[in-house]
Order: sequence, then C-alpha cells, then structure tokens
Amino acid sequence: MQGPIPVVLPHTPGLDVAGTVDALGDGVDEIAVGDQVVGFLPMTGAGASAEYVIAPAEILTGAPRNLPLADAAAFPLVGLTAWQALFDHGKLTAGQRVLINGAGGAVGGYAVQLAKEAGAHVIATAGPRSTARAEAAGADEVLDYGSAIDVTTPVDLVVNLAPVTPEQLAALVTLIRDGGTLVNTTVWMPAPSDEARGVRGINLFVRSDADQLADLAARIGTGELRVEIAQRVALADLPALHAQAAAGELPGKTVVVLS
Ligand SMILES: NC(=O)c1ccc[n+]([C@@H]2O[C@H](COP(=O)([O-])OP(=O)(O)OC[C@H]3O[C@@H](n4cnc5c(N)ncnc54)[C@H](OP(=O)(O)O)[C@@H]3O)[C@@H](O)[C@H]2O)c1
Repeated sequence: MQGPIPVVLPHTPGLDVAGTVDALGDGVDEIAVGDQVVGFLPMTGAGASAEYVIAPAEILTGAPRNLPLADAAAFPLVGLTAWQALFDHGKLTAGQRVLINGAGGAVGGYAVQLAKEAGAHVIATAGPRSTARAEAAGADEVLDYGSAIDVTTPVDLVVNLAPVTPEQLAALVTLIRDGGTLVNTTVWMPAPSDEARGVRGINLFVRSDADQLADLAARIGTGELRVEIAQRVALADLPALHAQAAAGELPGKTVVVLS
C-alpha cells in the first residue's frame, strides 16, 4: 500500500478512531473537551492504535450514543466508502438497480443497507460464509459468487468490493445498462469502461468527510443503520491481530480496545 498510503516507518497504524476529546488545538471551537467523537484519520499521519491520537478537528463528528464508544470505530472508513461508492460516484437514486459484488463484507454490509434505504433494488453477490450477512443487510437478491454472475435486467450501477480478477471485473460491465456506472474499490486494477455504450468505470479512493460521517452516525443513532462487530481485541494484542489479517483469517470487523 506504499502507493496510495506512503507512510514512513516506524508508523502507528489505525485509520478509524473513536474516543473522548482530551484537549483542543488553537482555534477549534466546534467540538469541546469531553465530547465523544469518531473520525477517519488522514492516511499518512500517525494512526489510532494508541491511547492518545491527534486528529484534525474537521474530520471528527459526534459518535452515535446507542453503541459503546469503542464500537463506533467500526464504521467510519467502511461506511464512508459505501456512501461515496453509491451516491458520490454511483449517483444512485430511488427505483434504480444496483449490483454489489462482495456484499457480505464490511463495506458491503453498509452498501446494501444504504442502497435499500435509498429505495434501490439491491442485488448482492456473496459466498457461503457471507450469504446470511448480505440477506440480513436487506438485499433483494443474493447471488452466489461461486457461479457465473448474471442478472435478468441490466443494472444502473455495479459496486465492486471483491478481489476478483481483471477479467471478472470486465465481465461485470456487461451487466450494466447503457450509460450506467461501475465503481471499483479494488483500485490495484483499473475500473473498466465501455465507451461505446457510455458505461463509465470509476476508481474510488475514499476520503474523510465529516458531514457524510455525521449523516451515517445519525442513521446509526436511529437504528436505521446497523454496525456489525465480529470481535474486540486488546491493543496489546495488535501484532497478533495483524498476523490474523495477513493470513486472511479475520472473522469480520474488529475493534481494538485499550483494555
Ligand atoms: N479504494 C478505497 O478507498 C477503499 C476503501 C475501503 C475499502 N477498499 C477495498 O474494498 C474492498 C472491500 O472492503 P471490505 O472491508 O468490505 O472487505 P471484506 O470485508 O474483506 O469483504 C470482501 C468481500 O468480498 C467477497 N469476495 C471474495 N471473493 C469474491 C469474489 N470472487 N466475488 C465476489 N465476492 C467475493 C468476500 O466474501 P466471502 O467472505 O463470502 O468470501 C467478502 O465478503 C477491499 O478490497 C478493500 O481493500 C478500498
């Protein structure tokens, strides 16, 4: 990840943060000491895997009150990715059809919920271990990604969240109506387009946005949006957690807690 995230070692990892404001920088007046906040930190700075974190005030928003503060760290990056894929880039509107490839994962869970809430018809792809999650998130149809992916009527938008091959990604373009869009998050391969049919491929690079984060937090606060957490791990066990991630053995979204 040195391309998109050119960090200098030694580096403190952790892009999502939830915590209580301990001190303010000069000129910060929109938040106060004692506020409980969440944020998606700048990718190149020191991260959140620490007892104290320095965060730009403008990326923070109030944490939802209806879940433990540490658990609120589970949604900023993945929630913003889902939001920006569907609405900033995908321009999804009520009544449209969206195919979410890799819907059973962390981003996918939010993408399915947000697309349903926006009034779209949601087709999800998932494997055996994630089908139940995609269904629980509210997908109208769940297709097994182990078989050839096909749809009865072309979709307006494809959001790719899965580590597919470039050939599999190109095949998804054929499922999109003329003038539709493919948004790709697996940016190590470029998003394919079909210029003859006006189908546009867009590479998504998630960005911090406190207004969007506040909207997501509000939806979580009302129960409209659910936060799923697979495990909570102590900060002292971070090396083992990274080894688990590198081995592809993470059970889902993991929250790192101080004790
Ligand atoms: N560009 C950006 O700014 C940005 C931001 C955030 C995330 N991302 C990327 O977006 C992707 C999704 O993130 P995430 O956190 O949701 O990852 P995740 O939790 O690992 O989810 C990935 C999902 O893909 C599914 N999958 C695996 N192989 C598949 C295939 N051949 N066809 C269809 N689905 C398949 C998996 O299903 P099973 O569990 O059933 O195998 C899993 O549910 C990751 O690649 C991540 O790096 C990019």
